[in-house]
Amino acid sequence: MRTIKKITCIGAGYVGGPTMSVVAQRCPEIEVTIVDSNTARIAAWNDSDLSNLPVYEPGLDEVVAEARGRNLFFSADVDKAIEEADMIFISVNTPTKTYGKGKGQAADLKFIELCARQIAAVATSDKIVVEKSTLPVRTAEALKSILHNTGNDVKFHILSNPEFLAEGTAVHDLQNPDRVLIGGEDDDAIQALVDIYSHWVPREKIITTNLWSSELSKLVANAFLAQRVSSINAISELCEVTGADVNEVSRAIGMDSRIGPKFLKASVGFGGSCFQKDILNLVYIARTYNLHAVADYWEQVILLNDHQKVRFAENIIKTLYNTVNGKKIAFLGWAFKKDTNDTRESAAIYVADHLLNEEAEVVVYDPKVSAEQIYKDLDYLGTRSPEDNRRLVTIATDPYEAMRDAHAIAVLTEWDEFMSYDWAKIKAGMKKPSFVFDGRKLLNRKQLEELGFVYYAIGE
Ligand code: UDX
Ligand code: UDX
Repeated sequence: MRTIKKITCIGAGYVGGPTMSVVAQRCPEIEVTIVDSNTARIAAWNDSDLSNLPVYEPGLDEVVAEARGRNLFFSADVDKAIEEADMIFISVNTPTKTYGKGKGQAADLKFIELCARQIAAVATSDKIVVEKSTLPVRTAEALKSILHNTGNDVKFHILSNPEFLAEGTAVHDLQNPDRVLIGGEDDDAIQALVDIYSHWVPREKIITTNLWSSELSKLVANAFLAQRVSSINAISELCEVTGADVNEVSRAIGMDSRIGPKFLKASVGFGGSCFQKDILNLVYIARTYNLHAVADYWEQVILLNDHQKVRFAENIIKTLYNTVNGKKIAFLGWAFKKDTNDTRESAAIYVADHLLNEEAEVVVYDPKVSAEQIYKDLDYLGTRSPEDNRRLVTIATDPYEAMRDAHAIAVLTEWDEFMSYDWAKIKAGMKKPSFVFDGRKLLNRKQLEELGFVYYAIGE
């Protein structure tokens, strides 16, 4: 039975950073090194001012403060960290392919393959290699093949250990996981990883499966969660035309213990780095095996999500007398959910894009997202020139500034602070009639209507 003394994680992003920080915190006798090819990111993780960590997650600064320098290290020396480790986690990104076969659906595994080749080139002792990144089913096969054909005569065992943390609650999710999933073929290697999690996770919550079940389970978990959001969002549109209230419907169905109350909150649409990417992956895999009915079924979850974002933007345009040209629309929130600075696939990006096509003037306020990131997100769409994005979109650092003289306010992220604003003051500074479009059902309808706002919320 092998004991793990040193762990290396390749990829210091939203998954690798928090996950390995918690492992280091909970396993003080194991040395954990997180490496990344992005040296600026490593420098930020090493910043003595913890408010500069590259990932914002509630509670993460405390975990890093406790373990960093003790048994948690952030380094740009990838080769050295690989060579010294007994166990290597791969936590690099696997974006949707933007070229070639599977473009727009399949996962781009280029970074995973680069990692495997680097491990193969550098390793001179046996390693357990753990897939932390979400991968298409049977990626482990490719990893194995690259690692085993290197000629160094070193043994590699591959494990799949998908991450189920949600951003914004990552530290809590890592400390108290519903379950930990480990897929593999070699019992000793599996046991080595079980031993690590056993430092803080009850043994009955650690489940072991074969590699392929583990890889597929991650995609399926995200597909099921996203499907619930799309299901309730589909009903939100029906509620708006029938006079039903989607909150009441959610509550009524959620109390059925077979359905359960979570992930039934209607919204402007789901975002984040995982849901869309993982479903597209599932769809791509199904199509590859000619299972078109299966692929169509899951694809519909994405199509409905796209529809929800467009519908929200269209409703703003229609309500503002069919034109938003030159009108100031204040966005509250840009992140894909509260308590994170992550904006990947955020609904806000697509709603803004739709309004900008109509020459609206969008002013964005988000408590954690930088101006640079917001412009990057819009430029990435490639729908208009970077100059036009900067002409039409301004970023405010003060929320009241953002909403002054606005024709309408759109709530895109459910940040708590939005609820405690001085809404009477905001109303006084806005154009009349003063519209609020609440994509998160966050604000208090009664309070806003009493102040004279025209208030629209999804599904009501
Ligand atoms: C990513 C994937 O999106 C997710 O599917 C997977 O489960 C885990 O990895 P995340 O951590 O949120 O999630 O990605 P990101 O924040 O982009 O971090 C990836 C890091 O890997 C980046 O810091 C990047 O610089 C680094 N990287 C990427 C390398 O160090 N080497 C590479 O070859 C590629
Ligand atoms: C998700 C999974 O929850 C997590 O297990 C996996 O590891 C990664 O993907 P994440 O993307 O961080 O996590 O956030 P999540 O809380 O799942 O929210 C995803 C999106 O769905 C957000 O845009 C959120 O606002 C939206 N959502 C969620 C709703 O619109 N309604 C809901 O009821 C729940």
